[in-house]
Amino acid sequence: MTNRKATLTVDGESPIELPILKGTRGQDVIDISSLGSQGYFTYDPGFSATAACQSDITYIDGAKGVLLHRGYPIEQLAEKSDYLETCYLLLEGQLPNAQQKTEFETTIKYHTMVNRSIEQFISGFRHDAHPMAMMCGVVGAMSSFYHDSLDITNQQHRTISAHRLIAKIPTIAAMCHKHFNGQPYMYPDNSLSYSENFLHMMFGTPCERYKIKPAVAKAVDRLFILHADHEQNASTSTVRLAGSSGANPFSCIAAGIAALWGPAHGGANEAVLVMLNEIGHEDNIAEYIAKAKDKNDPFRLMGFGHRVYKNYDPRATVMRESCNEVLEVLGLENDPLFRLAKKLEKIALEDEYFVSRKLYPNVDFYSGIILKALGIPVEMFTVIFAVGRTVGWISQWNEMITNPYRIGRPRQLYTGADTRDYVPVDKRQ
Ligand code: SDX
Repeated sequence: MTNRKATLTVDGESPIELPILKGTRGQDVIDISSLGSQGYFTYDPGFSATAACQSDITYIDGAKGVLLHRGYPIEQLAEKSDYLETCYLLLEGQLPNAQQKTEFETTIKYHTMVNRSIEQFISGFRHDAHPMAMMCGVVGAMSSFYHDSLDITNQQHRTISAHRLIAKIPTIAAMCHKHFNGQPYMYPDNSLSYSENFLHMMFGTPCERYKIKPAVAKAVDRLFILHADHEQNASTSTVRLAGSSGANPFSCIAAGIAALWGPAHGGANEAVLVMLNEIGHEDNIAEYIAKAKDKNDPFRLMGFGHRVYKNYDPRATVMRESCNEVLEVLGLENDPLFRLAKKLEKIALEDEYFVSRKLYPNVDFYSGIILKALGIPVEMFTVIFAVGRTVGWISQWNEMITNPYRIGRPRQLYTGADTRDYVPVDKRQ
């Protein structure tokens, strides 16, 4: 809270005083919660200027391209941490000491298996069901397996639910992939790290163990870190809104997965690959840049632009460096799609349309190229995003539930018909 006030005067009426709240960093906020009782709503479709909550978890400075998780810059976490350690940080608020780190890793490993019934559940989908459709269904159904721990007012229940989600989401993701490509499911191997285990379950078969390259496992682990949390984005806001009704955490995360699927959000990584393949050659870049700028053409440059970042998305910078490393390790330095993406980025960032609108590559622009190089099929790209983001969703959900909250219930500007009387069908035009 600050002593500063905002004064709102409407048509010369007596001024309305609104308190201004100040956070650790970032914009101050005008607390408008009293406006409803004074006869006004605010109007902010898309919530561009709306802080829906207060949070200690992630801070973004869009103008400077800064991303902090519990105060730690994403660049440092991507370089020096690992995904499970980042999960602990997001969940608990501090980096773990050596004992806490080991205990957390052991706890997560203990929960990696899923109930055998989930195999039948996934097998019930069409063979070509999109893996995100399967993820929405299966994660929502997880609440049907854990009747022992769905009391959201019980800290132990919240903690084991968070651990179960973080531990099982890669197992379920890999099962969706196996179903999609008609292969048998692989059980987790708890002698492996989190990301090694994911690769084992994705690409191993009962006939042949997957040979894990440390650089590939590191790249996957870094991808998960880069996707772990991102303040109040569309899917996280969906998780919070679902959670505000008291719904169980599994159904809230399923709601987040559904929101993430859209091409304007997490579905963009899949859309970037489709776009790059459609562009095909750098000679066609100019045509697609023109389409992206044409207001009459629905085409947008996928992987470009961001509601908050009006500078480089720091994750995109790390992702591009990781791209270089992975492609080199895999002997794909001359990957045509990576070359095309870098050329597209260069041309776009020299174009006034993108420069004037501060449209830079976002987290999705390069992630698809790494995923494709790692052998992840394009239909699994957004699933990978969901695997990494699950810890952010559950951390944000837990933060809301452990602080005073009310059910989220936005209002509207009504523009429909005014009161009118019913007309019997024989009297209608
Ligand atoms: C993610 O919120 C998060 O933090 C999300 C995320 C996370 O980690 O959770 O960071 C992950 O979702 C990243 C974004 C992935 N989506 C895409 O890459 C899809 C392509 N990008 C756009 O659709 C768009 O940039 C959004 C959806 C990302 C942001 O949309 P906004 O904030 O509503 O911006 P806008 O539509 O108001 O655009 C402002 C202007 C418009 O032009 P004018 O009306 O001013 O003339 O920029 C133009 C837009 O037409 N514009 C684009 C563009 N993005 C914006 N023009 C061409 N190509 C684009 N990609």
